[in-house]
Amino acid sequence: MPSNRIRMKKNVGEFTIVSNSALNNTNYHICLQSDIGLPDIAPGQFTNVDIPNNKDIFLRRPFSFFDVDYEKKTVSLLVKILGRGSKSLTELKVGSKLNLVYPLGRGFTIPDKNDKVLAVGGGSGVAPILQLAKTAGSSPGQMHIAIGARSAEDHISIADYLQFAQFYFTTEDGSLGEKGFVTDHPIFHDLTQYNRIYACGPLPMMKAIAARAKEAEIFCEVSLENLMACGFGVCLCCIEPTVKGNLCVCTDGPVFNIKDLKW
Ligand SMILES: Cc1cc2nc3c(=O)[nH]c(=O)nc-3n(C[C@H](O)[C@H](O)[C@H](O)COP(=O)(O)OP(=O)(O)OC[C@H]3O[C@@H](n4cnc5c(N)ncnc54)[C@H](O)[C@@H]3O)c2cc1C
Ligand code: FES
Repeated sequence: MPSNRIRMKKNVGEFTIVSNSALNNTNYHICLQSDIGLPDIAPGQFTNVDIPNNKDIFLRRPFSFFDVDYEKKTVSLLVKILGRGSKSLTELKVGSKLNLVYPLGRGFTIPDKNDKVLAVGGGSGVAPILQLAKTAGSSPGQMHIAIGARSAEDHISIADYLQFAQFYFTTEDGSLGEKGFVTDHPIFHDLTQYNRIYACGPLPMMKAIAARAKEAEIFCEVSLENLMACGFGVCLCCIEPTVKGNLCVCTDGPVFNIKDLKW
């Protein structure tokens, strides 16, 4: 079956770091400014970032857009330190240049005003989820966002997003919100009030949410974080087996409707 792979124009360009600050123990907020106007960037789309000043790291690293300001020509990334590439990004000084390929992939379907939405973010997966709420211009009555983390220190501030959604928190150690995994939250006891579910985070979390959405027959999109190299459909290292055949997460995703996944 032919893939509905995105053929959108990709840009390659230099951005200047205007701020790079720690949000908590492991997450950094990096704001980058372009000299030129930004193309439309949908929530769930990502950029493949060249890691500068590091000869050992030759592959770019993919990061979701956390925020986009078309007027200021800035984009923000939420970077969780995992290995050498992400650590190196968090150490860059204001004024440093970063080379980005953008925007890549297929983002989330924007919900309508009449949709009742449950969006779930785990770890750095919270970035595209918050961007989705802001872009949709939703309200706390319309969108509920559940965020799961290991501990209170791993949660980031959602103060800027309170106008867009009602928030629910879980932590594995019980230090904030309900104790347990995000899918243990009472909000999952009755999903019938929702007609759309979105999720981004660790694979087991997304699989658990997909299973619940499937059971309740609710539209559900998840954003996969398969390992990537090229980011534009050439190296085939991000392949996901789907009911439509093997698809590239970087071009056919990263956002997929769960009905297309072999989960
Ligand atoms: C579409 C997409 C969007 C992403 N958005 C974000 C984001 O907004 N914020 C963020 O912090 N991270 C995001 N990631 C994950 C991010 O790309 C990786 O954390 C990063 O590439 C790790 O690079 P590194 O050099 O720090 O670690 P490496 O040294 O490359 O790897 C360290 C360890 O982490 C594992 N690892 C690397 N990448 C991944 C991955 N994608 N999933 C699971 N394990 C991995 C490696 O196998 C290795 O064990 C995204 C990934 C994808 C594919
Ligand atoms: S990362 Fe190269 S094909 Fe997807």
